[in-house]
Amino acid sequence: MYLDSLKALNFRNYDKLDLKFSPDLNILCGDNAQGKTNLIEAISVLALGRSFRTNKDEELIKRGEFSFYLKGFFKRNDFTELSVEIGKSREENLVKLNGIPCKRRKDVFGQVKMVIFSPEDLQLIKGGPGFRRQYLDLYIGQIYPGYRVASQKYYRALFQRNALLKKVKNREKTGSSLEVWTEKLVEEGSKVLYYRLKVLDEIEGWVRDYHRRISGNKEEIDCLYEWSGADRTSTIEQIKNGLYLDLKNKRNDEFRRGITLIGPHRDDISILLNKELDIRNFGSQGQQRTAALALKMAMIDLIKKTTEEKPILLLDDVFSEFDNERKKELLVTLIKKTQTFITTANTTEIEDLAPSANQFRVEGGKIH
Ligand SMILES: Nc1ncnc2c1ncn2[C@@H]1O[C@H](COP(=O)(O)OP(=O)(O)OP(=O)(O)O)[C@@H](O)[C@H]1O
Ligand SMILES: [Mg+2]
Repeated sequence: MYLDSLKALNFRNYDKLDLKFSPDLNILCGDNAQGKTNLIEAISVLALGRSFRTNKDEELIKRGEFSFYLKGFFKRNDFTELSVEIGKSREENLVKLNGIPCKRRKDVFGQVKMVIFSPEDLQLIKGGPGFRRQYLDLYIGQIYPGYRVASQKYYRALFQRNALLKKVKNREKTGSSLEVWTEKLVEEGSKVLYYRLKVLDEIEGWVRDYHRRISGNKEEIDCLYEWSGADRTSTIEQIKNGLYLDLKNKRNDEFRRGITLIGPHRDDISILLNKELDIRNFGSQGQQRTAALALKMAMIDLIKKTTEEKPILLLDDVFSEFDNERKKELLVTLIKKTQTFITTANTTEIEDLAPSANQFRVEGGKIH
């Protein structure tokens, strides 16, 4: 799938945009603070139903205006088309797919497949476990609708179970009704775990391959899901039993601490460099960036394989951080693979590396 054209009104620092894109490589160049990331953000809003950098819609409206409107026109591999419209004013939340109004912004999620990489993604390696869970949620959710449903139900059960555990801790209630919530938690949590283990298994080879390629065959990484109750070959039934048993063993601790101590909401992925070093603590900035990018690139392949649709790749400010060898390798890997948008403040570098790319000059909220 690719984004063929985009219209925008009063979005961030743009008052009006009407653009047509290449199905291959699109480069957005311009000085700092001109609107490059804003354009990437507009595309992410159309694909995900929300911005990748804020959850406050008001920030998306151009200062001094009262509403924004975005319309993206996408083309699929099978030549069918999809238009997505998203708008927001004080009175109205507009969401339309192919001109038909939808109830919720969430309905847009998953229609357009998208992989995004921005400087903040270094957190995927350096940050806490929550960043790695977010990564899994964002991409597995796009591929498997069942994952999103299970995950939402899981968090609802977790909320209830935690509320009860807190009351038990404070001696306001006995733990007699905990079993009901434990069963619900295990039921949905085992599905979430099943998808996560399956996806990590599927992407492992690609992650390793991309990392090796971008690093010029110098490094190798491995990703391991951190939960000992099951492994990648486990069935849902085995995962269920493992999770149930783990929760049972922790019951007294949970009563004492008043929270759920085991489950997908606490899991992590550990990433090892050359089979031994935890990249989070021992990797250089460039190695960490390479690993984060490899994790994202692998999702392109998984989306392609599972949904038979090529996702759109958004790379915000990625190049500035890599050395020339890594940059070149990255471009070679990307070109012709999938529709790609790259932002950069350094125009000459891109002209040298990818002379045939479609270039857009971004200047003070105008695009040429
Ligand atoms: N709601 C808004 N209304 C008007 N202007 C805004 C709004 N939100 C952000 N801006 C402005 O948009 C400008 C461009 O922001 P953007 O993040 O796209 O820059 P950029 O081209 O990616 O720069 P950099 O190279 O530094 O990353 C900034 O000057 C910012 O103040
Ligand atoms: Mg930017």
